[in-house]
Amino acid sequence: MTRELTQHQILRELEPVAEANLNRHLSMAKEWHPHDYVPWDQGRNFAAMGGEDWDPSQSKLSEVAKVAMITNLLTEDNLPSYHREIAENFSQDGAWGTWVGRWTAEENRHGIVMRDYLVVTRGVDPVALEQARMIHMTNGAQSPDEWGGFLENVAYVTFQELATRVSHRNTGRVCDDPIADRMLQRIAADENLHMIFYRTLCGSALDLVPDQAVDAITKVLVNFVMPGSGMPNFRRNGVMMAKHGIYDPRQHLEEVVAPVIKNWNIFERNDFGPRGEQAREELAAHLEKLGRDATKFEEQRDRLLAREATRGELQSV
Ligand SMILES: [Fe+2]
Ligand SMILES: [Fe+2]
Repeated sequence: MTRELTQHQILRELEPVAEANLNRHLSMAKEWHPHDYVPWDQGRNFAAMGGEDWDPSQSKLSEVAKVAMITNLLTEDNLPSYHREIAENFSQDGAWGTWVGRWTAEENRHGIVMRDYLVVTRGVDPVALEQARMIHMTNGAQSPDEWGGFLENVAYVTFQELATRVSHRNTGRVCDDPIADRMLQRIAADENLHMIFYRTLCGSALDLVPDQAVDAITKVLVNFVMPGSGMPNFRRNGVMMAKHGIYDPRQHLEEVVAPVIKNWNIFERNDFGPRGEQAREELAAHLEKLGRDATKFEEQRDRLLAREATRGELQSV
């Protein structure tokens, strides 16, 4: 099948699917309020209002929980750039436009509730957090130049929503605070519904233009980076989060990439032309590489943890 459609034609063809899935989303989404997830009784004034400024001793969060919280919050904070990408590549009209507005409003809640929680509980340094936010948002996030438009964007956000869901859930686990865990589970439930919307739309695009869509999916996965990759200290913090199982290469492959590929039935389809077949082969090779990378990472992590454990034993003698 070699049918080639323009972006405009794809959006028009998929508009009924967008409308049906917008309605499905609205019927599934639960109304929730950030203020219900923040322990306000733990709050007090900072020095500018006669209280005390932040000090590391006030924080109950472990180092890894802090790093994960900051990374996830700054990722949510960069919403204006994601909105720009989505608004430019999806139509502003009809169901598409309504979805973009609704999705943006829901995402905004995630940053609101996490910041309120962290400032009230003194979980992280609010000055450092604000400085990092300024840098991160000023830089913005941009999709790679070679991405064509709608297809790459809808494929990317499918994986990205699922990746943030995994990251939020596991961050809740390492916070060791039932309030933080409940808040992050609430956010993760939103990310799951977002993922389902984008996955369904991308799946319909595969049926409509199989070759173009699988080509876009392959491009996105081969070049995949987490949405927060431009933030200060992302490399160091990303490694720390991977080391503690918040988001590691195995989770990326088995909890994010593989289930979506399976849902789209990519390796069982028989509607690809030569271009689609080539993209599918490239994708298969990439999945194998992800598997090898995950094993290599786990071996390194095991060695590192064993060394740290030995060092800890020696110190306690
Ligand atoms: Fe979010
Ligand atoms: Fe989301």
